[in-house]
Amino acid sequence: MKFFIDTANLKEIKEAHELGVLDGVTTNPSLMAKEGITGKDNILSHYKAICDIVDGDVSAEVVSVDLEGMIREGEELVEIDSKIVVKIPMIKEGVKALKYFSQKGIRTNCTLIFSAGQALLAAKAGATYVSPFIGRLDDISTDGIGLIEQILTIYRNYGYETQVLAASVRHPMHIIQCAEVGADVMTGPLSAMEALLKHPLTDIGLEKFLADYAKGNSK
Ligand code: E4P
Repeated sequence: MKFFIDTANLKEIKEAHELGVLDGVTTNPSLMAKEGITGKDNILSHYKAICDIVDGDVSAEVVSVDLEGMIREGEELVEIDSKIVVKIPMIKEGVKALKYFSQKGIRTNCTLIFSAGQALLAAKAGATYVSPFIGRLDDISTDGIGLIEQILTIYRNYGYETQVLAASVRHPMHIIQCAEVGADVMTGPLSAMEALLKHPLTDIGLEKFLADYAKGNSK
């Protein structure tokens, strides 16, 4: 399973990259705003800064909701760097944009997916990735991981190449559950990735190994 980090924070992206497990980055307009990145030029150069850190795909979201606007923005975004994947919302015009970009060989990530039907449409339109938001579904007492499983089944039934990118991941158990059901990618915060490496028995065991080593080498 690929690990993407879901942030526009350069420090966190660098940290995840240095950990050696980072396969890409996803951003959205809210994450950009959270970092205080506003205005088209600043946003475009921030995407470039992200691409300069990571080796994998970087999702950059359009903010137009009409087809022409999405095409214009998407074509501009892919000029920034070959790592850019155009993130398109799951709306009617977005489906048309997915088809347009897929015919042009431009990679896309269809975002704001909350149902299997939406994921089926996105795959038929040629999306490279679909992003079902599992955390936001869990927030409303709906089974986010169940949706990932359902989409994977549908894609396998017909051999769709669209990758299932589990988004809105909030904690380490989400990551483990995504891996159990076979999500192609998960995107989440650095804290959830780092939480995977923690275990109290590891800390206790290491403390004892180091203490025993120190005893044997203290002369
Ligand atoms: C997807 O790519 C989105 O950026 C993201 O995962 C949404 O997560 P949130 O529900 O934590 O805002």
